[in-house]
Amino acid sequence: MSASMTSKIVLITGANQGIGFEIAKSLSSKPGYHVLLGSRDAHRGIKAAKDLKDQGLDVEPISIDVTSDDSLASAAHQITSKFNRLDVLINNAGVSLNEENISGPVLRTSYHDTFAVNTFGAALTTEAFIPLLSASPTPRIVFMSSVTGSLTHRWGIPVDLPVYRSSKAALNMLMLHYAFKFKDAGWKVNASCPGYCATNLNDFAGMDTPENGALNAVRLAMLGEDGETGTFTSKEGVIAW
Ligand SMILES: NC(=O)c1ccc[n+]([C@@H]2O[C@H](COP(=O)([O-])OP(=O)(O)OC[C@H]3O[C@@H](n4cnc5c(N)ncnc54)[C@H](OP(=O)(O)O)[C@@H]3O)[C@@H](O)[C@H]2O)c1
Repeated sequence: MSASMTSKIVLITGANQGIGFEIAKSLSSKPGYHVLLGSRDAHRGIKAAKDLKDQGLDVEPISIDVTSDDSLASAAHQITSKFNRLDVLINNAGVSLNEENISGPVLRTSYHDTFAVNTFGAALTTEAFIPLLSASPTPRIVFMSSVTGSLTHRWGIPVDLPVYRSSKAALNMLMLHYAFKFKDAGWKVNASCPGYCATNLNDFAGMDTPENGALNAVRLAMLGEDGETGTFTSKEGVIAW
């Protein structure tokens, strides 16, 4: 029997770079985890997966664009054919578009394109993989959120970014929807903030590393039976809603 048949199968969206890539690296280096490295661009995904496979890690690329129903269906079909279940889904794909000095139709497009990935994309990805997660004995879902989406911390974090921040606030509600829906079935569904990490998303201005940004998501992906569900945390602990 191949290792991937006995391992936990993990799908990470937007894992060809940044924090998603570091989550893929970390989880695939643990015994018993087989990582499907999601990328909207097939070539970038193949290259990123090769980087990790060359280090002896248990990774394979998969094409997945969270804004495309066809892409989601195709990825679900491939995972069904190959594994017939999914143990961990990490909704990591995200964008932060320019929000400065825009208005009118450009602002409308910015709201649309941001929510299409960060919020609707995560929701529709989760919906597409619920049947496969239901076939796992221990389903885990991690939503990559942000402390900037916290209502409590709106005043405390003085950056504007109303588009990005509201997309993550809505994402937290989506996380709670799924946590509540699958609570009695034992699923662990949580949101993680990686901290302000230097990635392409912020032109590498973040103060922390993407490796550190992966830590809490990896912890949540590996929660045991007594692990939490319906929470919003960072590696420092609980974040106020
Ligand atoms: N960096 C931070 O400080 C920070 C803080 C709080 C939360 N976060 C969250 O952490 C997550 C990862 O961000 P990051 O900082 O690692 O950014 P990143 O390096 O820019 O990575 C974002 C990933 O999402 C992918 N993506 C974008 N649109 C997609 C789509 N339609 N379908 C599938 N994948 C798509 C990107 O693909 P391409 O490579 O093709 O563009 C990329 O792989 C995001 O949800 C972000 O909001 C980041």
